[in-house]
Amino acid sequence: MNNSPVNPFLLNGRRVLVTGASSGIGRGIAILLSQLGASVVCSGRNEERLQETFDNLEGSGHAFSRFNLIDIDEIRPWMSEISKQHGKLWGIVHAAGIQQTLPAGMINREKFEQVVTLNAEAAFFLAKTMLSPSVRDEHGGSIVFISSVMSIVSQAAISTYSLSKAALSGLAKSLAIEFAPKKIRVNCVSPAYVRTPLLDDMTKKWDKNQFEDLIKRHPLGLGEIQDVAYSTAFLLSEAARWITGTNLIVDGGYTAI
Ligand SMILES: NC(=O)c1ccc[n+]([C@@H]2O[C@H](COP(=O)([O-])OP(=O)(O)OC[C@H]3O[C@@H](n4cnc5c(N)ncnc54)[C@H](OP(=O)(O)O)[C@@H]3O)[C@@H](O)[C@H]2O)c1
Repeated sequence: MNNSPVNPFLLNGRRVLVTGASSGIGRGIAILLSQLGASVVCSGRNEERLQETFDNLEGSGHAFSRFNLIDIDEIRPWMSEISKQHGKLWGIVHAAGIQQTLPAGMINREKFEQVVTLNAEAAFFLAKTMLSPSVRDEHGGSIVFISSVMSIVSQAAISTYSLSKAALSGLAKSLAIEFAPKKIRVNCVSPAYVRTPLLDDMTKKWDKNQFEDLIKRHPLGLGEIQDVAYSTAFLLSEAARWITGTNLIVDGGYTAI
């Protein structure tokens, strides 16, 4: 062990952009990263909820920036502006995402693109922008895409969601190889069902039995936001310095059944 930090899980001196930081998992990740010493740039579309996340961050050097990730062509100028205003980025967590429950027969091109653009295409362009020396911290970096167990198993009527999340695993693998010479690691975290506003929205029309059945499909019960945040912080940190191109399944045993 040489030159290793005393606690390799700490993120002191790292500036990390967290998308989806205005709610649920992204918010939980932003707060945990701040507790581990990172400077966090929180992003989402809703200013009020972003402010709420910002107010809950610990330490200093944080910022928030409202941005609609559907504006793919604006991602690069937006990230350049963040770097100019707040300093270069060391990491990205892409937690922004939407779910769509629709039978394939009802999905037109617009509906397809709503999901795939935000969940997968934006991930590519966020990561690609880290190649720019004016955006990226010269000491390397770490990128984590929040995927889903629906990237490896699935169910009816979530084809666009499954497709977009499976795309992230392939993307992480290829970028992991391509970005390794720049000392940038790229990984995915794939949770099963976690208690968040997205889950509330998805299950609002379910009856009690359906919900109980969902819980039974997780041997360790439904996930909490911290469960995903801990795994993400680990993959970002020096403790994971030899891990790249992987898809970490965080599912309470969902895929073991
Ligand atoms: N909850 C689960 O059970 C679960 C399981 C597996 C994977 N995941 C994944 O975890 C991630 C977070 O999910 P969550 O449950 O925390 O969802 P959530 O509470 O609904 O949060 C979604 C986030 O995405 C942001 N967002 C949505 N559309 C956007 C856009 N066009 N541009 C920029 N930001 C946008 C939202 O911000 P604004 O509203 O401010 O725009 C919000 O911060 C998603 O990628 C999801 O697929 C969730």
